[in-house]
Amino acid sequence: MRTSIANLAGTTPIGRAEIKSLATYVPPRVLTNADLEKLVDTSDEWILQRTGIRERHIVEPGVGTSDIAKEAAAEAIRRAGLTPDDIDLIIVGTVTPDMLFPSTACLLQHKLGASRAWGFDVSAACSAFAYSLTVGSQLIAAGSVKYALIVGADVMSSIIDYTDRTTCVLFGDGAGAVVLGPSSSPELGIIDFAHEIDGSGGAALCMPAGGSLKPASHETVDQRLHFVKQDGSTVFKFAVRRTGDLCERLLRRNNVTADDIDLFVSHQANRRIIEAVSERVGIDKSKVIINIERFGNTTAGTIPLAMNDAVLQGRLKKGDLVLVASVGAGFTVGALLIRWAF
Ligand code: UT7
Repeated sequence: MRTSIANLAGTTPIGRAEIKSLATYVPPRVLTNADLEKLVDTSDEWILQRTGIRERHIVEPGVGTSDIAKEAAAEAIRRAGLTPDDIDLIIVGTVTPDMLFPSTACLLQHKLGASRAWGFDVSAACSAFAYSLTVGSQLIAAGSVKYALIVGADVMSSIIDYTDRTTCVLFGDGAGAVVLGPSSSPELGIIDFAHEIDGSGGAALCMPAGGSLKPASHETVDQRLHFVKQDGSTVFKFAVRRTGDLCERLLRRNNVTADDIDLFVSHQANRRIIEAVSERVGIDKSKVIINIERFGNTTAGTIPLAMNDAVLQGRLKKGDLVLVASVGAGFTVGALLIRWAF
């Protein structure tokens, strides 16, 4: 295996990066609200009304994040008209890496046979795809790399407690990947981004054990600390307020109004959050893509999964102005303004 020298290839700023291609993958197995009614004290009606979710996909045992990432990534590279050897950089946004180390980016690089790529994982929970897009696009804009594979992938079923009704109804597994490259025209591509973190919200959404603070022990397993814990209403309120504020700030500083936006692609955690944020920002309902119904919250996977559905529905076309918004554990918040390039 050759070592990457892509980062030495050139450092002349090239302007903007654009999304050249997009592909997604969800595992075939479907977990419906009716299935969950058999596991915990919940109902299809409660889940649908409070979240907008009807079903989600989950992997079979033995399938890791790098496996579902590979399905999306290989197809995204093919759709870009490239081969794995053309990829200079791999960034995987995930909160469910195959293991703590090595990074999922390394495992994915090997599975793809992307012999020239370097890469790393981004830990930003539900904002990981948005943050990864920003990092990749900035390295391309700086002229440091030419083609970057950006993946958002999570096997949330591996960290969900299927005895906890407050979390197990929310999440699903899924992956999405885009290939970023230099913009084919000056108007197209990733125009601007805004990101924030607020660690004061750390306890509101976390997996308490399995890291350096509380390594795995019989006690941590008995106390079910290797699962997602969430204070839903705290996260809900933060998400609506701060995502809305960040989107407004991004639009203002680019002299763009809500009416100029062709499509709003939000992280899909809850239908009510997406509707509240778009209302707050002033984006018409017809310009909002919501597909949480079929996938639940796939964490780093939601934004590419939503983009993909928008493309398939003919709602996302070359030249469209897209506002991307994310919010997740940390807290992490993100917004990007993109002129769609294919
Ligand atoms: O992607 C990462 C970011 N995460 C999010 O953005 C999630 C943000 N939060 C949410 O989406 C919502 O807060 C939830 C969907 C998690 C919960 O909705 P809520 O309207 O905030 O409900 P709640 O937590 O206030 O609970 C209302 C009631 C409670 O019962 P009591 O105390 O009123 O008797 C819960 O115990 O609903 C109960 N409940 C359920 N009932 C049936 C909670 N989960 C369930 C359930 N089925 N699955």
